[in-house]
Amino acid sequence: MREDRYLTFALAKGRLAEKTIDLFGQAGISCEEIKDKKTRKLIFLNEQRKLKFFLAKGPDVPTYVEYGAADIGVVGRDTVLEENRNVYEVLDLGFGKCRMCVCGPDSAADLLKHHERIRVASKYPNIAKDYFYNKKHQTVDIIKLNGSVELGPLVGLSEVIVDIVETGSTLHENGLKVLEEICPLSARMIVNPVSMQMERVSIRELINALIDKNGCS
Ligand code: PRP
Repeated sequence: MREDRYLTFALAKGRLAEKTIDLFGQAGISCEEIKDKKTRKLIFLNEQRKLKFFLAKGPDVPTYVEYGAADIGVVGRDTVLEENRNVYEVLDLGFGKCRMCVCGPDSAADLLKHHERIRVASKYPNIAKDYFYNKKHQTVDIIKLNGSVELGPLVGLSEVIVDIVETGSTLHENGLKVLEEICPLSARMIVNPVSMQMERVSIRELINALIDKNGCS
């Protein structure tokens, strides 16, 4: 790597970034400044190791990585699948485990079974479309929402939702259940394809350090 070049990381803001920083710390990649919860700064440097970290909205992380504004990104697999950017997914970091599921009231189970034309509300329209059209060969109407997706079936917007289920308590408290499981999810490390070539040595070292210390796969 060139002397003046920083290996740049885009991290999804919030809980995922906190866990990533802990994990990187265990692998000897630290950045003290970023741990300050009160700071409004967005970019943090580790001058000694020539590392740069920035915090971004989750769905923007694959965008920064595809365009090379970041060499490496850490984000949930849900976002990697939904954004479908030209990036390499190199590592499962093993935290942030949850599932992408089709959920709804009991009454929606039959509609799914009989491949009825139903309305599907989701923050993840691409994942929902891929699942229903390409895997299930079922024609549905997909309605994009930006959060609190469980409201969909409760207020009559949709018959089912496609959403993340972690503990299942949001579903339970709202009288909904998992009807079909689409795929397991967890935090992933993604890499820009050009960086993977140009910074191969430092990226490989990082991946190996994370595998050694934390058993990522
Ligand atoms: C996510 C997801 C579910 C909930 C699942 O929402 O969309 O609503 O967490 O977690 P649980 O199974 O442990 O209850 P998030 O909190 O990210 O907010 P959102 O509804 O605004 O997307």
